[in-house]
Amino acid sequence: MIMEEILKLVREYAEQKAANKTWVAGRDFVNYAGAYYNADEYEAGVKSLLNGWLAMGNDGLAFEREFPKQFGKTKGIVTNSGSSSNLLMMSTLTSKRGYSLPKGTKVLMPIAGFPTTLNPTLQVGFDPVFVDIELDTLNLDLDQVEQALIAHPDIRVITFAHVLGNPPNMDRLMDIVRHHNLILLEDCCDALGSTYDGKPMGSFGLMSSCSFYPAHHMTMGEGGYVATDDANTDVILRSFREWGRGCYCVGPEANKLKCGSCGKRFNNWIPTLPDEIFDHKYVYDEIGYNLKPIELQCSMGLEQLKKLPEIHALRRRNYQLLFNIYEKYEQFFHLPRATAKSDPSWFAFPLTIRKDAPFTRTDIVDYLEENLIQTRPYFAGNIMLQPAYSHLMDPAQAKDLHPNATHAMTHTYFHGTSPVIIPEQIAYIGEKVDGFMSLFV
Ligand SMILES: Cc1ncc(COP(=O)(O)O)c(C=O)c1O
Repeated sequence: MIMEEILKLVREYAEQKAANKTWVAGRDFVNYAGAYYNADEYEAGVKSLLNGWLAMGNDGLAFEREFPKQFGKTKGIVTNSGSSSNLLMMSTLTSKRGYSLPKGTKVLMPIAGFPTTLNPTLQVGFDPVFVDIELDTLNLDLDQVEQALIAHPDIRVITFAHVLGNPPNMDRLMDIVRHHNLILLEDCCDALGSTYDGKPMGSFGLMSSCSFYPAHHMTMGEGGYVATDDANTDVILRSFREWGRGCYCVGPEANKLKCGSCGKRFNNWIPTLPDEIFDHKYVYDEIGYNLKPIELQCSMGLEQLKKLPEIHALRRRNYQLLFNIYEKYEQFFHLPRATAKSDPSWFAFPLTIRKDAPFTRTDIVDYLEENLIQTRPYFAGNIMLQPAYSHLMDPAQAKDLHPNATHAMTHTYFHGTSPVIIPEQIAYIGEKVDGFMSLFV
């Protein structure tokens, strides 16, 4: 009874808050991102908290079972972030129970993008082999991918993000993956809902990651996912997520079974103590982490899943509205266009200023920000030029071998395509961009 009253009030509060929301051009910011949620998520979150199951439970399990369909996959694990998901994908490849890839394994990837697409390679002791990006899409350059595979025939893994939702030529990429017998890990943190040839991004790799940070397509506050079709990979992922333990009982109900899902929870689990009975819940098959979300996040996530069709439609609309503004100025910009056969659910609208343009990125970004229009750079740009990585590659080499990544680091900015951005705000962006461009056209 009290619960019902609380939830009714929560709903009323959330609805009032939404109804009172205003935006005035020139007074309020046009944000680069924003989560799309309402009373449904508030109610689900509060209910979850009041139910009193704090660690990942039944909603976590329900979310875990429901989500992989988004990537055209059947299995997977929910995590506490996209970065954790990328770390879990790469860690899984080291498992003795799986691919057992040793330290020093070569991993092919673009040099530009978000740092935690790259970091897990270094964190598990693999060696990155970098290629440059294309200026039009900011995706990894497939000609260079082929060259790198000739120069390093021992490359075993390829990983990359579909840049801001837009994939590379997946027909060509998958031919390369098959031909060189590579393991593909897809970073789909920015690509939920995008498709290539009618197939969802995330359906191509052995494993695919997602992020549920508020700036992303859907949110749980923080959160992530790794999807796969491979049952053994799923078991290993789960183990790395949960302290490394070997027990694969899933969810609170299975935990109540005296002998676990396997029926032999208490058994001779430890090979080095063959005569001892040991609780499988405390057997560690991997050197793991704890990267689980809490139940409240998953309860909110279940509500977000229902909103995905409208989220994708609004992101595509906002991309088109921004394209209409910038199309007129193509002589100054590399504009974002969907790769042939793809239909991106755009994470953002990236613009790369051409080399001979009469203005700099600072000129236009300062002007936009002064007019309360937020922008962001293309994440870390050429990552090897960032302070944390400068010992890994000579900066001159990082620049010379990867001129497009370096150009994107200094000449790219993006607007958001978040579903919370309304057409009036994009019209305002158009007015300001036209104003700036009138100095040059
Ligand atoms: C391509 C890509 N990968 C990974 C991440 C990391 O996700 P999270 O912030 O959930 O750790 C991001 C974050 O924006 C991203 O854009």
